[in-house]
Amino acid sequence: MKQIQIAIDGPASSGKSTVAKIIARDFGYTYLDTGAMYRAVTYLALQNGLGLEDIDSILMLLEAHPISFGRDEEGEQLVFVGDVDVTHAIRENDVTNAVSAVAAQEMIRERLVALQRSIAEQGGIVMDGRDIGTVVLPTAELKIFLVASVQERAERRYKENLQKGIETDLATLEKEIAERDYKDSHRAVSPLKPAEDAIHFDTTGVDIPAVVDFISKKAKKILDKSAET
Ligand code: DC
Repeated sequence: MKQIQIAIDGPASSGKSTVAKIIARDFGYTYLDTGAMYRAVTYLALQNGLGLEDIDSILMLLEAHPISFGRDEEGEQLVFVGDVDVTHAIRENDVTNAVSAVAAQEMIRERLVALQRSIAEQGGIVMDGRDIGTVVLPTAELKIFLVASVQERAERRYKENLQKGIETDLATLEKEIAERDYKDSHRAVSPLKPAEDAIHFDTTGVDIPAVVDFISKKAKKILDKSAET
């Protein structure tokens, strides 16, 4: 059976990774969270006391401690740099607030995009990020661009944090999300923007199963069509 590439792009907390994970599981495809890769590089830089502009040193560190993925007993994705499990560390505030600066660096993007494409070569893939439909997989059969209001995304992040036992201020979260949106969509290299052939979907007020259903139906349609020919 033919397998396709599904690119899901959109701003922070638009629900990309939650729905991408479910769709990958349902279709038996690989799931790749590209944001986790930019976070892992940022973690490496911070952990080693490197300046975020010290690209040569960051790239050397990355060479010595490559990013890889694994799974825990429940099947949840784990992220490693070298052999260190950084799954939780890369979600901490220090990484979250520094990652946009690292993700704006062309050399770092080149390195990570090459890795993302090589993972996609292995077969069916659901990849989420900011530039998947535009740069990483421009020939993906299905491209989705998810958006949601800043308020709703801040509330989602607030609830996620509460579940992790972290109390955050909602207004601060809104401000941070708006700042990250601005940086991600105004950077010179691969800014956050929809591919021309992406399908836009506003998830404000829409629950996760409905978003999954929308994307899955589009994917099935493409697969059915290719089975006919
Ligand atoms: O989706 P996220 O919040 O985990 O992404 C972390 C950061 O990485 C975010 O600031 C945008 C950046 N990013 C990117 O520039 N390109 C991608 N393909 C994925 C994420």
